[in-house]
Amino acid sequence: MAEQGDAARGPTLHFVGVIRSPHVRPEQTPIQPVFAEGVQGRAEVLPGCAEGLQHLEGFAHSGLLYRFRSAGPARPVAQPLLQHAEPGVFATRTPARPNPIGLSLVRLVRPEGCVLHLQDVDVLDGTPLLDIKPYVPRFDYRTDVRTGWLDAVNEQMARMRGRRQPPPG
Ligand SMILES: C[S@@+](CC[C@H](N)C(=O)[O-])C[C@H]1O[C@@H](n2cnc3c(N)ncnc32)[C@H](O)[C@@H]1O
Repeated sequence: MAEQGDAARGPTLHFVGVIRSPHVRPEQTPIQPVFAEGVQGRAEVLPGCAEGLQHLEGFAHSGLLYRFRSAGPARPVAQPLLQHAEPGVFATRTPARPNPIGLSLVRLVRPEGCVLHLQDVDVLDGTPLLDIKPYVPRFDYRTDVRTGWLDAVNEQMARMRGRRQPPPG
């Protein structure tokens, strides 16, 4: 990316823990939490961060921000799994992006010490965790939406590819 000067540099990011899941192969990992219903996992936060889990038991969902492991060089256009299209990388959720940061809205089961038990996990095992933010419909829910190139994606096909199921027959 182009040099942006001091304002773009900011403080160094630190990992707050690691995500544990049954997913070990990217090509077999669901592409979003909605396609990973019931898949259990956990966020294991560093001991110094455990206090930060307090009061999360009151929330049903949480956004996880994490670092993708190398997904190859970032390209300005992506090739999404759901559609034969080449949208700009920022119009997709592809892991191959200039800053390889993932965002997954997962279901919270319960915190337990340094561990946050999760469901609907679409993240590879061992993924470094950057942050956890509670999902707050008052802040995050929108009704006046457009979803661009994704509007053309057939629902049944999205479910099949999103869950990484083989095509029928
Ligand atoms: C399309 S991305 C979307 C991830 C996230 N929900 C998002 O929107 O940022 C999901 C895919 O990323 C890949 N993936 C998951 N965890 C990863 C990791 N830690 N490093 C690299 N790729 C990962 C898997 O192939 C998974 O199917």
